[in-house]
Amino acid sequence: MREGYIHLNPDQIPTSWYNIQADLPEPLPPPLDPSTSKPINPKLLERIFAKELIRQEVSQECYIKIPDEVLDVYLTLPRPTPLYRAKRLEKFLKTPAQIYFKCENFSPTGSHKTNTALAQAYYNKKQGTERLVTETGAGQWGTALALSCALFELNCRIYMVRASYQQKPGRRIIAQLYGAEMFPSPSDKTNFGRKLLKENSNHPGTLGIAISEAIEDTLTDEKTRYSLGSVLNHVLMHQTIIGLEAKKQFEILGTYPDVVCGCIGGGSNYAGFGFPFMMDKLKGKTDTEFVACESKAVPHTTKGTYTYDFGDTAMMTPLLKMLTIGHGYACPPIHAGGLRYHGMAPAISYLIHKGYMRSIAYGQTEVFEAAKILAETEGMIPAPETSHSLKFVIDEALRCKKTGEKKIIAMNYSGHGLLDLTAYEQFLSGKLVDYEPEKIEVPTIVK
Ligand SMILES: Cc1ncc(COP(=O)(O)O)c(C=O)c1O
Repeated sequence: MREGYIHLNPDQIPTSWYNIQADLPEPLPPPLDPSTSKPINPKLLERIFAKELIRQEVSQECYIKIPDEVLDVYLTLPRPTPLYRAKRLEKFLKTPAQIYFKCENFSPTGSHKTNTALAQAYYNKKQGTERLVTETGAGQWGTALALSCALFELNCRIYMVRASYQQKPGRRIIAQLYGAEMFPSPSDKTNFGRKLLKENSNHPGTLGIAISEAIEDTLTDEKTRYSLGSVLNHVLMHQTIIGLEAKKQFEILGTYPDVVCGCIGGGSNYAGFGFPFMMDKLKGKTDTEFVACESKAVPHTTKGTYTYDFGDTAMMTPLLKMLTIGHGYACPPIHAGGLRYHGMAPAISYLIHKGYMRSIAYGQTEVFEAAKILAETEGMIPAPETSHSLKFVIDEALRCKKTGEKKIIAMNYSGHGLLDLTAYEQFLSGKLVDYEPEKIEVPTIVK
């Protein structure tokens, strides 16, 4: 077979999402109510999330049917997305390994985030929600939710980390074009935002602060619900359409990946791509290696602690058992805004903690160097987040060159970097700064 792009026909699109909770050797530690340190009653979350999403969050069903209305929109993104064999990159690296990218960069907003944004907007619309509120870092998630709200006719309000709001207007403008209200966070719209602005009127903001503001806002209006772009089980599950499609594409090729990799911010793109393959590992059917890539500036899984922590800075969320560097961690201003989050999805944290997968951290200069190689060989300009796993792919392919291994390396190409050109300009002019925390303090919240 001649390889390049491997396509699926529209009628080959998976019609259910995969729920890894059904296949884990034990249930994930439950979310806790911070006031009692006891498992939270899912009913309590109904004021924040759509009911169906809470049901999915704790579901143990192996597959959950994708509603027809969501499938119809998936097809117009378009989905299925192609699987691409990067032969020119292989040739440049002189590696016997084969390199495949699952192309989530083709979505209208440029990343995988639409896969869950559409599902969340749909379920909210169905139950009568009028407005969705969320936070966004560099804007990938915000644009995806803004688009989904436009398509399902919901109002949308987004708290965007102030540093990105000011320095990276591209995605803010896109979300505004879709009709979303955009506020720089910390903002003067919430008590928490006003308190922080009083301390520092030019506070740069963090994702954890923006989450706190979005939740506070949600609680002020009965017809409003909150939407999260990563971390939670239901979000990861909606992304599994990526890996389910990729499995069919590898089946067409008559092969199976030896290494499955991707970057991790909150964990959704990695889970979306990796979990359908991890299903086979959990059932003892494959010894494929699973590798997640993060930033050295935010080393939540390589230097974090597996413990209960808050999901936001103002300590408003339930406690999640996860690998965390602490909800108060001041994430340095790296360009991969989507990787600037203190915690990791409980499901991925569990799999790393138990040794089913591993993680690795990179500095942003080496990551941008990897992206430059891809641009020169394949003409593709990856998102800075995506480039973290590209760095691993290149290193692994070079390792295979030394050992002669003909490994099949599969990576989720989670987004394009065409709205990140100021970051690339800084790289080209040698102005990128690498960060690493000197000290990480993770508070013990549950004894
Ligand atoms: C292109 C891209 N890849 C990866 C991520 C990381 O997030 P997650 O780990 O939830 O996929 C983001 C987050 O915004 C992103 O925009």
